Amino acid sequence: MEKERKRGLRRGEELAAADTHASEVRAVSVAFGGVRALTDVSTSVSAREIVAVIGPNGAGKTTLLNAICGLVRKSGGKVSHYGVDVTNTHPTRIARAGLGRSFQDPRLIDSMTVIENVLCGTHATVGYSLLDQIARRRKVGKKEHAARTEARDLLQLFGLGQFAEVRAQQLAYGQRKMVDIVRATIARPSVLLLDEPSSGLDVAERARVEGMLAMIHREFHIPMLVVEHHMDLVRAVSGRVLALVSGSVAIEGPTDDVLDSDEFRATMAGDTSLYEPKVATPDA
Ligand SMILES: Nc1ncnc2c1ncn2[C@@H]1O[C@H](COP(=O)(O)OP(=O)(O)O)[C@@H](O)[C@H]1O
Ligand SMILES: [Mg+2]
Repeated sequence: MEKERKRGLRRGEELAAADTHASEVRAVSVAFGGVRALTDVSTSVSAREIVAVIGPNGAGKTTLLNAICGLVRKSGGKVSHYGVDVTNTHPTRIARAGLGRSFQDPRLIDSMTVIENVLCGTHATVGYSLLDQIARRRKVGKKEHAARTEARDLLQLFGLGQFAEVRAQQLAYGQRKMVDIVRATIARPSVLLLDEPSSGLDVAERARVEGMLAMIHREFHIPMLVVEHHMDLVRAVSGRVLALVSGSVAIEGPTDDVLDSDEFRATMAGDTSLYEPKVATPDA
């Protein structure tokens, strides 16, 4: 694990040294029929940076992540990953190129154990599919063993080790969200996109997710674009904020500057989703 961590760290440092944007979006527009979900959105995530994407429901935050990882068709603009144009690249190829992603509703396979779900995250980089694994079990045995050890180590690192052999269907919602983050992290993506990692969680779980993001950044130096509604978490982990309103960039800047600005208060006034946890907490 130590060796693996060093590898992740070196990779992050190399990319930082290259001084390119990890992900760059230039004048991207996305439309669904008559709905303009994004209009001329430009932003970037640099190596070593955590950028928070905030904004009311329906502002286009998820669509922005989908545009970056190739899940929606752009009607205009350009997306690049470490300087390589991926505007029209298939999502699988973008994932293989090092882009990791978690979803607002964790996409775990219920019938599989936690460790098997985490291992699904390695396939983009290990270079063989689940079917290949079954067909060539002996050949991939060694790789599989190393990947399993790493998955176990990573779950341990995030305090989820005791769930390794538990079936995903037995997990509580918060645990599913955390396992989904581990799944997205195991391949050491060169950019990580997280869609509302703390939505639906209570205060204690939110603090754990905050710890996970801080650790991923500190240990693996993975740049992140994090869609987030909780401003305490945004303030704790991000260095820069991008506020979207109705599919356009309303405000962008250093986190504290944005969150303390009158412009932010005016723009986001009345959007309680930015402040209130979506699930009642025991102490609420
Ligand atoms: N697959 C889709 N088909 C049609 N409309 C969509 C689709 N995805 C998103 N939209 C619309 O695009 C807008 C932005 O949605 P979304 O990116 O999910 O917002 P957010 O994540 O900020 O809540 C909304 O009006 C939403 O209804
Ligand atoms: Mg969304």
